[in-house]
Amino acid sequence: MIGIFDSGFGGLTVLKNLAKSLPGYNFVYLGDNARAPYGNRSFESIYRYTLEAVSYLFSAGCPLVILACNTASAKALRTIQQKDLPLIAPKNRVLGIIRPMAEEIGNFTKTGHIGILGTEGTINSNSYLMEIAKFWQLQVEQEPCPMLVPLVEKGLLNHPATEIFVKEYTQKILSRDPRIDTLVLGCTHYPLLQDLFVKNLPKNIKVLPQGPIVAQKTLEYLANHPEIETRINKNSEKIAKIRFLTTDSADFFERNASLFWNSEIKAEKISTLPE
Ligand code: DGL
Repeated sequence: MIGIFDSGFGGLTVLKNLAKSLPGYNFVYLGDNARAPYGNRSFESIYRYTLEAVSYLFSAGCPLVILACNTASAKALRTIQQKDLPLIAPKNRVLGIIRPMAEEIGNFTKTGHIGILGTEGTINSNSYLMEIAKFWQLQVEQEPCPMLVPLVEKGLLNHPATEIFVKEYTQKILSRDPRIDTLVLGCTHYPLLQDLFVKNLPKNIKVLPQGPIVAQKTLEYLANHPEIETRINKNSEKIAKIRFLTTDSADFFERNASLFWNSEIKAEKISTLPE
């Protein structure tokens, strides 16, 4: 199976695109809802929680785990790839969702000026800046948007309070660089606010959610890595089969996931995460 990890519900926006692009693959989604949100937690906590979840997904039979969370990708991915993976499962792989955006972002901008919106953890890590610099020479501005995750989780997608914050964050970043023509929604929750972003931005600015790009890059990754691809279970029905796991109660997950997922979900609570 392909393991998908997120701090809570947000990774479902990425999984939606993966399931569409990879029909016939089997997925396990793990949301660490009991400890979400990760956005303003310390490096140590995010790293420890993410490593626990990755180890859990490996033992559940996932040779490939995607951290469908920007905060975990920003704070934990590199250490897990470089330090932990060689020790705990050298043949398995862990990927994040910042690198695929960094690889593609230069294809979207005409001015060469882009903006990144994300949680405080993601923005303060400078991960987008470092990854983008490996592929492109672009002018990159960043803006943390700490109020958006709680507003989305409360379901206030079209609430005036949410619009005030969307306006404030986008005006702030554009005032620092008015030549920005591409804005990355660098947090799994922000695609739910895509319409609000588009409404409050000048028409020439592209708003980029991550799901479609991550799905495309995962397809390419699997095509280029048969040693991983052949170890992933497929099913003959040509639809993505998904198990949903959560560290909080199954009932809580099933009730609240509907904001992020269109059909009904049957979730299972996992009680322990290995250290
Ligand atoms: N999934 C997280 C991200 O993409 C947002 C939610 C959180 O702060 O845990 O950064």
